[in-house]
Amino acid sequence: MYSNASLKEIKLSYAQHLVPQLVTAVVIINDKLKIQYLSSSAEALFSKSLNRLYQKEFLDIFTHSSITAERLNQVFSTGQDFTDSEVVLEFIENYHITLEVTASIALFNGSEHILLECKQIDKQKQISAEIFQEQQWEAARDLIRGLAHEIKNPLGGLRGAAQLLAKELTRDQQEFTTMIIEQADRLTNLVDRLLGPNQLPNIEMHNIHEVMEKVHQLVSLDNAKGIEFIRDYDPSIPDIGLDTEKLQQTLLNIIRNATQVLDKTGVITLKTRIATNQTINGKKVKLAVKLSIIDNGPGIPPAIQDTIFYPMVSGRSDGTGLGLSIAQTLIHQHQGKLLCHSYPGRTEFSILLPLTKRA
Ligand SMILES: Nc1ncnc2c1ncn2[C@@H]1O[C@H](COP(=O)(O)OP(=O)(O)OP(=O)(O)O)[C@@H](O)[C@H]1O
Ligand SMILES: [Mg+2]
Repeated sequence: MYSNASLKEIKLSYAQHLVPQLVTAVVIINDKLKIQYLSSSAEALFSKSLNRLYQKEFLDIFTHSSITAERLNQVFSTGQDFTDSEVVLEFIENYHITLEVTASIALFNGSEHILLECKQIDKQKQISAEIFQEQQWEAARDLIRGLAHEIKNPLGGLRGAAQLLAKELTRDQQEFTTMIIEQADRLTNLVDRLLGPNQLPNIEMHNIHEVMEKVHQLVSLDNAKGIEFIRDYDPSIPDIGLDTEKLQQTLLNIIRNATQVLDKTGVITLKTRIATNQTINGKKVKLAVKLSIIDNGPGIPPAIQDTIFYPMVSGRSDGTGLGLSIAQTLIHQHQGKLLCHSYPGRTEFSILLPLTKRA
């Protein structure tokens, strides 16, 4: 039998020793939403020490968080816990994590605080979401390709027949055959885009910045809106195997989308970095090159966020919805991965290309 006092001591000692070891990250904030305590795993999760974050406003360490001050204040006012299984926190340093967060009231030093228990769910969620997206994208692409192929053959016949017919007709009547030919050409053009890139890439060793600079030059020349372009390169990136034409087309497709939604206050950042320990198309890759195109526009409309890479998905009335699907195919041809993360004010498309040794 323990006395009450020694039981309290035992509990306290366990608490003191166990909390720092918990895999679940623990954060304690006061009624001003200021950080009072971070467990070691919370320090690791946020990549910052308690020393640095003590008394900082919890929400200030993120540029974007799906947890709001109102929501946290509600925990104080109602005393009710909440669990959110998909909280996205975007850090000032521009990376984001997805967490499962439980917020509850806890008493510390006689006053009410909020105890946040956070479990990172990105990795497993990201991998299963990627596999799912990949399968959906392939199915949609194959369906569209099959359809485009079926349309292409009779279209050639139709155009040929109109040409033959034109020879038999008077000048006035030829107006109609010309119209048939023009429309057939327009459809052939669309069908060719639907069929996607049909040549294998010509992979050679290049410096990634050659391509970035070429793209920057092209988009700067065609910049009627006066969008600002920022280049943020890591010059130490070694040469990498790529098809410059295809990578250029990919980047242009992505940047054009951004320029279409931006106005004169628009800023597009072209960024290059080395990324370590990535999973690309189900394979572990130790070293990769990460190319990011970041804009400060309105973000991708939520209704199409999960399907933007599918062919024929567009948020624009005059869009064919093929730009990103083609970009995806081209990046696949490089054994790479194309990702997107978007919310109002910040949209980032990133391309991950595995860094392979020189052949
Ligand atoms: N940076 C961005 N900001 C906001 N929305 C975007 C951005 N990039 C893409 N989108 C959305 O994704 C949709 C799909 O883009 P995609 O390039 O595949 O097709 P599109 O631009 O509509 O047509 P196409 O490129 O074939 O002319 C766009 O219509 C737009 O709604
Ligand atoms: Mg486009």
